[in-house]
Amino acid sequence: MNQLTRFGLAGSEQLADPGFSQAVIDWQRIHGRHSLPWQNTTDAYRIWLSEIMLQQTQVAAVLGYYARFLERFPTVQALAEAPGEDVMAHWSGLGYYTRARNLHACAKRVVQDYGGVFPSDPALLAGLPGIGRSTAAAIAAFSSGVRAAILDGNVKRVFARVFGIDQYPGEKRVEDALWRRADALLPERGMQAYTQGLMDLGATLCTRSRPDCARCPLQARCVAYATGRTAELPVRKPKKTTPEKRAALLVVIDRGQVLLEQRPASGIWGGLLSLPEVDGHLGAELEAVTAPEVLAAAGAYGTVEELQALRPLVHVFTHYKLHIHPWQVTLARRGGASVRHLWWDLHTIEAAPLPAPVKKLLQELAAPGLFG
Ligand code: ADE
Ligand code: SF4
Repeated sequence: MNQLTRFGLAGSEQLADPGFSQAVIDWQRIHGRHSLPWQNTTDAYRIWLSEIMLQQTQVAAVLGYYARFLERFPTVQALAEAPGEDVMAHWSGLGYYTRARNLHACAKRVVQDYGGVFPSDPALLAGLPGIGRSTAAAIAAFSSGVRAAILDGNVKRVFARVFGIDQYPGEKRVEDALWRRADALLPERGMQAYTQGLMDLGATLCTRSRPDCARCPLQARCVAYATGRTAELPVRKPKKTTPEKRAALLVVIDRGQVLLEQRPASGIWGGLLSLPEVDGHLGAELEAVTAPEVLAAAGAYGTVEELQALRPLVHVFTHYKLHIHPWQVTLARRGGASVRHLWWDLHTIEAAPLPAPVKKLLQELAAPGLFG
């Protein structure tokens, strides 16, 4: 931790780093892309159209569509007045057609609410159909030089690597922190070159796999590069780990009958019959129970003659995975039964209202020959 953070410098000040934006701008001026058809213009309509097309589509695929679209709809007024089918026809093949419907709706709103002139305030742009916070910032920066931060997938990847952020950027808290960084890093001037530079860096050097760190202007300040973690950052979406639980069930067998227990009305397997559990809390214990514990629990149902651990089985619920440890108990003598317990003939076990894994277990045990 450096002195600044230790003494609690406020918010974005400790995130600021003028060298960062300067490195991006200098690199963009020499190595970035300069002759894309939506560059070298301040026409917000043309910039907006390109940003929407580029949201989910690569530059190479966009070029032809962009040219044909502008030829047919040269102004936002022309687009607003066009029939919807015409707009869709010119989008056909680009995919993600919600973009085209939003595009048309947005053109109409710009004509109706803003007299056909795109606002330059990113907050107003972000209120229009199909324009999110990052796209709004890109349009404002490219068309008016407004100091507003972009944060698309490529930029998130660059930031995660440069700053060594080892948390999943799709998480709200992490994304909020990335926005604060993005804001703090904005240059005082040169917004077009900076914004385009960040995009180009993410698209051409700091690619998802095999980033070209040797040519990267951010290499000297890149945590992922310094620590050899470019392959691990950004952190991938964590796989949902299903919790695992364990339950020991008693298969108390006596003279061709098995002891079943009424489960409480609420909770898993509510209202069904099942096998008695060792601890009475299905899945509450993570540790597998031991034979003496099982023996003690089985004692409640009679005099135990023999105890045998059966092969465990796994049952997957929507929210967890249950490891069932069945223990077969042979009684020498039945004990007193409670009102929640009953003896069921194994040869009619098919008809018992049992949870599927328990029924399967008992059917296997009831197979001819096993219990005479
Ligand atoms: N992707 C999104 N916006 C872009 C732009 N202006 N240039 C290149 N790729 C982009
Ligand atoms: Fe990305 Fe490598 Fe540059 Fe770091 S040094 S920002 S990992 S290209």
